[in-house]
Amino acid sequence: MSVRVALRSAAIAIVIAGCALATRESTPVASPAWTSHVIPEARGEIRVAPDGTRTAVRYKGWTARDFGAFRTYAYDDARPEPPVQKATMPANVVGDPKAGRALFLNRQKGPCTGCHLVPGADVWPAGGVGPDLSTLGDRKLPDSYLYQQLWDPRVIFPATVMPPWGAQRIFTPEEIVHLVAYLQTLHGPPPTDSDPDHNPFTRRRSTGFGDNLDPTNNPAVIRAEEARALWSARGPKGKACADCHANGPERAMRGVAARYPRVVAEYGRVTSLEDFLTVHAEATTGRALPSESDENVDLTVMIKMASNGLPVAIDTTSPAARAAIERGRATFFRRVGERNHACADCHTPDRGANKFLGGRFLGDVTAGLTRHLPTWRTDRNEIWDMRKRFQWCMTPLGANMLAADAVEYAELELFLTTFDVGKPINAPGIRH
Ligand code: HEC
Ligand code: HEC
Ligand code: HEC
Repeated sequence: MSVRVALRSAAIAIVIAGCALATRESTPVASPAWTSHVIPEARGEIRVAPDGTRTAVRYKGWTARDFGAFRTYAYDDARPEPPVQKATMPANVVGDPKAGRALFLNRQKGPCTGCHLVPGADVWPAGGVGPDLSTLGDRKLPDSYLYQQLWDPRVIFPATVMPPWGAQRIFTPEEIVHLVAYLQTLHGPPPTDSDPDHNPFTRRRSTGFGDNLDPTNNPAVIRAEEARALWSARGPKGKACADCHANGPERAMRGVAARYPRVVAEYGRVTSLEDFLTVHAEATTGRALPSESDENVDLTVMIKMASNGLPVAIDTTSPAARAAIERGRATFFRRVGERNHACADCHTPDRGANKFLGGRFLGDVTAGLTRHLPTWRTDRNEIWDMRKRFQWCMTPLGANMLAADAVEYAELELFLTTFDVGKPINAPGIRH
């Protein structure tokens, strides 16, 4: 009874807030009942100084560069993909192979070694998303052809994973001439390398981090245990989660996470568990639980753990879900940012998935990437949920990120989760 009343007034409050806020989206996925709640560093805001300098507000340690010149995943970003560019090699520049090799290895630039192996003990860690270039010079390809390939490979490979380095002004014409000069010096026989780990095609995959549900092994499990206090704590409205959801989180929340992301009619859009909590927690308890706050992520881990072992069982058949999945699929294949990359470039098996990008082994979307998230990241000492993962994957590649609770990300997450249907949830995971 009291639950109903509280919820009804909460729903009214949300609708009122929604009216005041109905600004940005004019697309078919507009969600008037949705109020965005996100911590400042996860909103994707751009700050403009009085002198016009633009900096991006992002997580600590992330780049603050504004990539506003390049298209994003926002549904209202109607800019087309940059046009394919033909290029002619400048005749007045003499290629310097040494300068070219330095550019090839430069981590601030490509790095070309992220995707290609070339000879040299200092080439580490090279990836294998692109072909081994160790003997490229033997193919006797014309300089002008290589120049074009580096300027914009889409002229010959329309669906390439390799960015259009020249067309997007990542390398200058002179730099590309040096790169070509270096590549032409690469002759066989290929170096015999005694260390298989040096070579991305023979390197072993790391073997994991032990039992991810062992709290002495996975700090995210301890954080979820601490979230129990939040579950029972009364918010400003005098209610706690525990007041309305009886029998403890394990029983009250059993099976819930298996249904997310889902279309929540009341909010008029797809929501992940994290998204749902941003609105539901505030509406019922008065406690703000913004997206990417520790409290939101910790509670999500706790709720997801209550479904461990259960198969993912999201709705993929209702018309609203199917339409959202299609939009999510389109996002997955849409090329954005300075590098003109799509998620698909790194996570589908016909492109980068199951290969090394530098030292990182690329997950395969068709095998399912979502069941272990939120996941503990050993190299950052942080729990990352799916949204922070999305934001991280594309930001260093030159795309401004969207707010963590953006509907574009929600529908992308829904699409990714379709590959996990029927497979058991096992969260929180551990990843490097
Ligand atoms: C994100 C991965 C990626 C990065 C980074 C990358 N490449 Fe590539 N590259 C590829 C792939 C994949 C191919 C194979 C062609 C294709 O399928 O598009 C390729 C092909 C090539 C080729 C052969 C072209 C041909 O016609 O045979 C050259 C040369 C090359 N890359 C050089 C470079 C240089 C130089 C850099 C750094 C400026 C670089 N690549 C960075 C993925 C990458
Ligand atoms: C005032 C009562 C009340 C409070 C307080 C409350 N909830 Fe709920 N909650 C409900 C009701 C009723 C529903 C079912 C309505 C719905 O599914 O939309 C629900 C639904 C949910 C769901 C979705 C279940 C599903 O099957 O999709 C989750 C998750 C959830 N609550 C978590 C929490 C958490 C975490 C808190 C504390 C921050 C909390 N709730 C506080 C009443 C409450
Ligand atoms: C240039 C390559 C690249 C692109 C493009 C890219 N990612 Fe990633 N992604 C990575 C790397 C590297 C990792 C970390 C290694 C791994 O777990 O696959 C990763 C990890 C992930 C993970 C976690 C996998 C796991 O098992 O923990 C998800 C989910 C993911 N990416 C989704 C996306 C989505 C969605 C997009 C598009 C918005 C995207 N990625 C774009 C390189 C990329």
